[in-house]
Amino acid sequence: MKHQLFGLLALFCLSFNLSGQEGHNLLINAYNRASTSLNGNWHYIVDPYENGYYNYRYEPFDQQYNPSSNAYFTNTKVEAPSDLIEYDFDLSDTIQVPGDWNTQKEKLYYYEGTIWYKRSFDYVKSKDSNRVFVYFGAANYKTEVYLNGQKLGVHVGGFTPFNFEVTDLLREKDNFLVVKVDNKRTKEGVPTLNTDWWNYGGITRDVKLIETPSTFIRDYFIHLDKEDNGLIVGEVLLEGARANNQTVSIQIPELKLQTIVTTDASGKAQFKMKSKKISYWSPKNPKLYKVRLITDKEQLQDQIGFRSISTENDNILLNGEPIFLKGISLHEESPITKGRANTVEDAKKVLGWIKEMGGNYVRLAHYPHNEHIVRLADEMGILVWEENPVYWTIQWKNPETFNNAANQLEEMIFRDKNRTSVIIWSMANETPVSEARNQFLSKLIEKARSLDPTRLISAALEQSNSKNDPNIKIIDDPMAELVDVLSFNQYMGWYVGTLDICKDIHWNITQNKPVIISEFGGGAKQGLHGDKSTRWTEEYQEFLYQENLEMLSKIKQLRGMSPWILVDFRSPRRPLPKIQDDYNRKGLISEDGTKKKAFWVLKAYYDSMK
Ligand code: GCU
Repeated sequence: MKHQLFGLLALFCLSFNLSGQEGHNLLINAYNRASTSLNGNWHYIVDPYENGYYNYRYEPFDQQYNPSSNAYFTNTKVEAPSDLIEYDFDLSDTIQVPGDWNTQKEKLYYYEGTIWYKRSFDYVKSKDSNRVFVYFGAANYKTEVYLNGQKLGVHVGGFTPFNFEVTDLLREKDNFLVVKVDNKRTKEGVPTLNTDWWNYGGITRDVKLIETPSTFIRDYFIHLDKEDNGLIVGEVLLEGARANNQTVSIQIPELKLQTIVTTDASGKAQFKMKSKKISYWSPKNPKLYKVRLITDKEQLQDQIGFRSISTENDNILLNGEPIFLKGISLHEESPITKGRANTVEDAKKVLGWIKEMGGNYVRLAHYPHNEHIVRLADEMGILVWEENPVYWTIQWKNPETFNNAANQLEEMIFRDKNRTSVIIWSMANETPVSEARNQFLSKLIEKARSLDPTRLISAALEQSNSKNDPNIKIIDDPMAELVDVLSFNQYMGWYVGTLDICKDIHWNITQNKPVIISEFGGGAKQGLHGDKSTRWTEEYQEFLYQENLEMLSKIKQLRGMSPWILVDFRSPRRPLPKIQDDYNRKGLISEDGTKKKAFWVLKAYYDSMK
């Protein structure tokens, strides 16, 4: 009876969270769907004055009944010799999509503003009744999309997917897709004006056309029941004229599981499947199962791992067993192209380094990374902390800023809720405590829990000195009460004092919750050697790691860490010539892929934990 009751409760939670995402019109598992790639060389026009978007009275062309031919999205061509058209995509330079513009064109290295992209293509549907969507893995930061002169929509946020239906606009020949990307930072943005990473602009991830039946599988969420690890529960959502009262078969062949459900009036169906043979996913056993979802018109396939993640007092339990998260932080920067990462090769390189380090965990800072690295983490058995880019001094009192943050959170959870490696959703990083910020974050936590009741919630919280002794640190951030895992960044020996203070510092953490140190570290120029008290030498960084690891190991609730950071990364905050040269040097590996001495200190620490 208890299992049935919990099973129904879990299904209710599930049904609630999927419906919360319906308004999202995102397609689940775009990664594996039948699609036509639009990656490649696109023509582009740099438009710092947004001259192709506004007329000379600063009125948007795309809000006029009869838009001027100077509106770039019309892609107007000269027909008569007297025509005056002052742009031409096809005569303009080309740029690779996906890819940031900063590292592809030297004159765009610092560019912040609008760039227009244009791609022409022919398209013949495989079945006339099918529907077609144009899907973007991400574009940074504000994107406006037009097809054949018609506006499809706008997306805000630089790190999450979006798609628009184009079924009725497509033609067999000479379609032209025009995309306006504006990476200007704004004070109301998410993130806001100040960050410690490079503002890579552009269509930074894959673009493709996805074709679906007229009624198709819009969403599904399939995972282990929270109360019964012999029960796989899930929900599927169809969309289309015949979404209701449809049968859907869900199969996990290797477990000899199949269930057939019928969708309700809203196109939704819940299901559960018992099995005594589940091989639970873990870093030591990254077991993924082929899962098939089949309707009379469609078959979708995914690779899903089944595991449980929870906390019990100050322990993190993976499949009921305490685990220590031996991790490192990572920005989405390619050690191959030195720009925004977006390929499987990029992901293999950096996750390979984490494995080499003896790691089982990665903090994808400070925003959702591309889907390749999350799926590869599933395959390689690396646990993942994913983070919404609510970073530093966001505009806490601005409702639009909140809606933007909530929207990006939803898109992150929507995309990756079936990725077993993701165990923690992080709400924010180093945000100054205030009543408005507490409200803002509390609502995000509530939303995250409603969208996904199966994962842990955390954030890089604030810490303070205890009143009677500055060497005793406490976590008095009000959000500590709401998160499952206490995390904080600390920089003893780098931003706080020099290395000799570490032995005197203690944390007095009173909360009975697991603690992850989400950041610690210091900079070193790879190849610069000297005395360990000389800043920027590899020896200084090496000693900093030794001292910090000893200091942090005294925290009795310590259950993981993601030191800052695996690889040196670009930031406009780091101009020091000959040492930084636009790079934050806290990496354990240089941007050229050369390991520094501190890499081996962290490896030895993790290896000692075997
Ligand atoms: C902060 C912040 C990082 C930043 C790091 C640093 O903790 O979270 O984004 O890069 O410190 O100063 O290097």
